[in-house]
Amino acid sequence: MGQSINELRPLVETRVAEVEERVALLAQPTPDALRSLDRLVTDVTLPGIRRPLGAEHPVVKTTNEIVSIFRGLGYSLEEGPEIETDYYNFESLNFPPNHPARDTQDTLFVAGQDRKPQRERLLLRTHTSPVQIRSMQKHKPPVRILSAGKVHRHDTPDASHSPLFHQVEGLAVDTNITFSDLKGTLDHAMKALFGSSVRTRFFPSFFPFTEPSADVSISCFKCGGKGCRLCKQSGWIELLGCGMVDPNVFEFVRENGYDPAKISGFAFGMGADRIAMLKYEIDDIQLLFHGDMRFLEQFA
Ligand code: DAH
Repeated sequence: MGQSINELRPLVETRVAEVEERVALLAQPTPDALRSLDRLVTDVTLPGIRRPLGAEHPVVKTTNEIVSIFRGLGYSLEEGPEIETDYYNFESLNFPPNHPARDTQDTLFVAGQDRKPQRERLLLRTHTSPVQIRSMQKHKPPVRILSAGKVHRHDTPDASHSPLFHQVEGLAVDTNITFSDLKGTLDHAMKALFGSSVRTRFFPSFFPFTEPSADVSISCFKCGGKGCRLCKQSGWIELLGCGMVDPNVFEFVRENGYDPAKISGFAFGMGADRIAMLKYEIDDIQLLFHGDMRFLEQFA
């Protein structure tokens, strides 16, 4: 006890000295004395320091909403690194070295890796699709996984482009998965996300890792398809890419149970920023990244 009391003594002595100093100053209120008093006295009439309540960022809010829709269908969340290798971002997704399809991805590479073999070179992932391969290496089929996160491209920022944006990726592999499973799944998800009256339309497209591939549009949830500013008078809004997993992709994970003769699957990818912008009628993607409280407070 003695030791503790001795530790306490200097603290008490300092506090007492401070109080004595204040009392002395108050006894002789010269201008100088009052100025040092400001330092020592708490002005209880000042407004307190208020810590503003946090709010979910619109992109996080949208991502969580998409994830929870797919969780309801039995999908689970997988993670992958934002700094990826050429192998996962491209090669194993059926973008062979020097293939022109790589040009669509405006890739940011980590500098100074010229002496490494190409497949080991690091880059900022340009899409969340590399998580498809990582998940299939980790889990034998069947899989139903979702992955959400940041992706990077060498784009000049403007109202609709940002060098950093967000995607949500999905992958389902099992026996007898067909294109109609893909259509049914995405149609359900879009209705859950934008309202039960939206319809979906699938157009032929191309992605190296899916065959066949499709772009999906939804009927405009604002005007019901009549044509308005949001859908640029077309009645439709193009929203995501998808397709049946290309057998060449399964070849990279064949030894983990993915024999393309026995299993099949579908994949899809969507931009979370774009969906957030549509849902909340945000007309400039830069607003999502500037951290301006006047903008963010609206989502509290
Ligand atoms: N990774 C594509 C992109 O960013 C989007 C995408 C398209 C993902 C089709 C998919 C898919 O999983 O099947 O351009």
